[in-house]
Amino acid sequence: MRFAPQHITLKDEQLVEIREATIQDTPDLLTTIKEYIEDSEFIPYTAGEFSLTIEQGWRWIQSFRNSGNSILLVATHKGQIIGNLDVTASSRNMLSHTAVVGIGILKEWRRIGLGTALFEAATNYVKHNTTLEVLWLQVMGTNEAGMRLYRSFGFEETGRAKGFVRLSDGSYSDDIRMTLNLKQI
Ligand SMILES: CC(C)(COP(=O)(O)OP(=O)(O)OC[C@H]1O[C@@H](n2cnc3c(N)ncnc32)[C@H](O)[C@@H]1OP(=O)(O)O)[C@@H](O)C(=O)NCCC(=O)NCCS
Repeated sequence: MRFAPQHITLKDEQLVEIREATIQDTPDLLTTIKEYIEDSEFIPYTAGEFSLTIEQGWRWIQSFRNSGNSILLVATHKGQIIGNLDVTASSRNMLSHTAVVGIGILKEWRRIGLGTALFEAATNYVKHNTTLEVLWLQVMGTNEAGMRLYRSFGFEETGRAKGFVRLSDGSYSDDIRMTLNLKQI
């Protein structure tokens, strides 16, 4: 097993499991992702734009399970998926030590430590992986919650495309790249 399931207690005392996604999770995971995408202004999808079919979702999950270094984690409460985090390693030789990370949590489960627990799990996974060294991500300059979470793990801004994302109200947000070298700390 690449990732041993973990049980954690959140700040509000609720018990959550963090484990690798399986193909049986496909419908529940797609529903959760659609929900948090549609109620977040910080993921660059507009309503209805995220529309993976069950088969596409199944293939997406399977691609993580077939991969040597990428991993897709889900957080569940009483069997329901409430958030997920994916670490997608580059398939290019010169970039094979790097992986991009993405995260999303249902609105009612935010701000009680779940993002921190998922990042704890992901960074530990990378620390014990013999190929991966660097995690990176992209975040909107307006996403204060995300940037605070990432900085708390040592991520640093390594690039900024000014005004790159056009928001629904017509304003523009910077697109920030943050990186963390886990083999140097
Ligand atoms: C970003 C996100 C993953 C954070 O997850 P979370 O479970 O709320 O994070 P945690 O409760 O572990 O909080 C960790 C730290 O992040 C910061 N943070 C979280 N929510 C915040 C908010 N609304 N405002 C300001 N800081 C916030 C705080 O520094 C917090 O530490 P503290 O609670 O000790 O002050 C979550 O808000 C989310 O899913 N948002 C929508 C999707 C999204 O933005 N994905 C990332 C795209 S790059």
